[in-house]
Amino acid sequence: MTEPGTSDTPIAGWPTGVVLPSEHSWPVAIRVGAVVLRPLVRRDERAWDQLRAANHAWTHEWDATLPPDARYEPMPYRAWLRRTTAQAKADSVLPWALAVDPGWPGAPTQVDRTRLIGQLTVSNILAGSARSGVIGYWIDRNHAGRGFVPAAVALACDYCWQVMRLHRIEICIRPENAPSLRVVAKLGFREEGLRPRFLHINGDWRDHRVFALNREEVPGGLLNRLLPDGRLPRLTP
Ligand SMILES: CC(C)(COP(=O)(O)OP(=O)(O)OC[C@H]1O[C@@H](n2cnc3c(N)ncnc32)[C@H](O)[C@@H]1OP(=O)(O)O)[C@@H](O)C(=O)NCCC(=O)NCCS
Repeated sequence: MTEPGTSDTPIAGWPTGVVLPSEHSWPVAIRVGAVVLRPLVRRDERAWDQLRAANHAWTHEWDATLPPDARYEPMPYRAWLRRTTAQAKADSVLPWALAVDPGWPGAPTQVDRTRLIGQLTVSNILAGSARSGVIGYWIDRNHAGRGFVPAAVALACDYCWQVMRLHRIEICIRPENAPSLRVVAKLGFREEGLRPRFLHINGDWRDHRVFALNREEVPGGLLNRLLPDGRLPRLTP
């Protein structure tokens, strides 16, 4: 696994504190300042279960649910992790833990010691003539409002564009989800329209507004657009 926390920036043009490898291979961990995207692992099970339970009231309105005619059951963490890791190795998903590094901006903490605070997944990754992916995310309520998710989305987009050479990144948001609409607004995502009853969320089929960005729309990368003064996210203000 690529170890974040080193000072090298293998791709030119990113400020110190951004660590991206030059080639894609799963598992991979990347960082922007204190914000780390790293693979979820078996050891995260308890913290993940606790975080999900503690944040139920905060996330359930936006959480995916199984449609009534689904032919499978919700999976426990370990079974889900086995399946999603196999998909990640086949390059069809990037199932990242959203984590923070309590050591930053001092000595960076080892990637496996970074603290789980949420999730960011790039799913439905298509190769061929599409070269696209869809981003979804949630963050622990106690860590919300500090710009961590916009920074993580920008990092994930730059990885997808520059390292995986994807072309299009899409984010779909319920019209009622004001905080998530702020995330795409801060990043300058382009709105494409409304998909009526697009996804089964919180027990019913829900409309979604579709936002997207293609690689050539952000030639300098999304981190440079979001953090023009190079100020990296940190845990303490
Ligand atoms: C949407 C979400 C991921 C945003 O993450 P974040 O790291 O807090 O993003 P930001 O810090 O940029 O905050 C975005 C907006 O959230 C709102 N916000 C900030 N702190 C908040 C808090 N404690 N409680 C509620 N809303 C808050 C503000 O409107 C903020 O916009 P502003 O910076 O212009 O004031 C987060 O709110 C979340 O996890 N929500 C529940 C799950 C969810 O909605 N997932 C996305 C489904 S599409």
